[in-house]
Amino acid sequence: MKVLVTGGAGYIGSTTAKALEEAGHTPVILDSLLSGPRAFVRDRIFYEGDIADRSLLRRLAAEHPDIDATIHMAARIVVPESVQQPYEYYRDNVAKSLDLFDELTSLGLPRVLFSSSASLYATKDGFEVTEDDALDPPSPYARTKRMMEQALQDMAAATELRAVILRYFNPIGSDPDLESGIYVKEPSHVLGQLVLAARGQKPTFTVTGTDLPTRDGTGIRDYVHVWDLARAHVRAVEQFDDVLAAVGAPSTIVNIGTGDGVTVRELIASFESVFGAKVPLDEAPPRPGDAVGAFANVDKARELLGWTAELTIDDAIGSALAWAEKRHEILGYE
Ligand SMILES: NC(=O)c1ccc[n+]([C@@H]2O[C@H](COP(=O)([O-])OP(=O)(O)OC[C@H]3O[C@@H](n4cnc5c(N)ncnc54)[C@H](O)[C@@H]3O)[C@@H](O)[C@H]2O)c1
Repeated sequence: MKVLVTGGAGYIGSTTAKALEEAGHTPVILDSLLSGPRAFVRDRIFYEGDIADRSLLRRLAAEHPDIDATIHMAARIVVPESVQQPYEYYRDNVAKSLDLFDELTSLGLPRVLFSSSASLYATKDGFEVTEDDALDPPSPYARTKRMMEQALQDMAAATELRAVILRYFNPIGSDPDLESGIYVKEPSHVLGQLVLAARGQKPTFTVTGTDLPTRDGTGIRDYVHVWDLARAHVRAVEQFDDVLAAVGAPSTIVNIGTGDGVTVRELIASFESVFGAKVPLDEAPPRPGDAVGAFANVDKARELLGWTAELTIDDAIGSALAWAEKRHEILGYE
């Protein structure tokens, strides 16, 4: 199959492109390089440009009339920045995605997989969430994701467009061959911060929120290895029509996580055992907008996609540490 991957120069997109190749498919990358590094595109078919550039999309479709599906990952993704710059987030994640979906439909490329997020879920007792649970997107970023879920559902109901929406939980780790991984200089997410503290690139790791209503007071997440996440896309692309036939609807939403909730303190313990040393810690109150957290009920992913996560949290931590050693070679910075 040939698969258009928007945002294919990014962290998850580049890993997904590789998983597609390993399964015998051909990714076609569309990325503006707004944030993703050129090095992650490697030697793949690449269009540098914007998802809302309709003439570029028409050229791309004319040059690749055999595209079977689009994985739409291109987006702005930094939550605090979305609070500061809501216009840019709504413009790029919402308005431009609408143009992309409309153009894909006109071009006769109706199969869309969309990258959504577990950050949409409202806090729930027990923390395990199914796709039908209540939502309460806490930031402009998360609201752009919810809006696009709704837009896709409405467009799929009214047009030829068909949508499989994947709600990712918390992707961590690197490509197993260390060809891509986290590329931002100062990652804000928990594992990136742990790696920085372990490598002495920052003095301590700060546990933000120690009085939350979880088993040890720290936030709970469902950390899924980015390679497992990439494989979920391969499954979803390969079985796209069957998935929608099975649900009997033109669109559907599927949680992509491991099904296990892990607290920040538990993640630190795993990290220290893989790293082989203690990490200096301090504590602070939760940051504004920090959620208590959730973990995925993964029944739907298992039943519809035949997919479950296979790699462990230790695998992900090990690959993140190895990537931190290696990434200078690929990115040119520590
Ligand atoms: N990383 C996470 O924790 C996480 C969690 C849930 C969902 N997601 C979603 O997964 C997707 C991929 O995330 P990621 O972590 O790989 O992010 P990323 O920033 O590494 O990748 C996004 C890519 O999109 C490109 N891009 C942005 N705007 C564009 C535009 N208008 N036109 C063309 N290209 C554009 C960027 O250059 C970048 O390469 C995003 O949609 C994100 O919202 C990520």
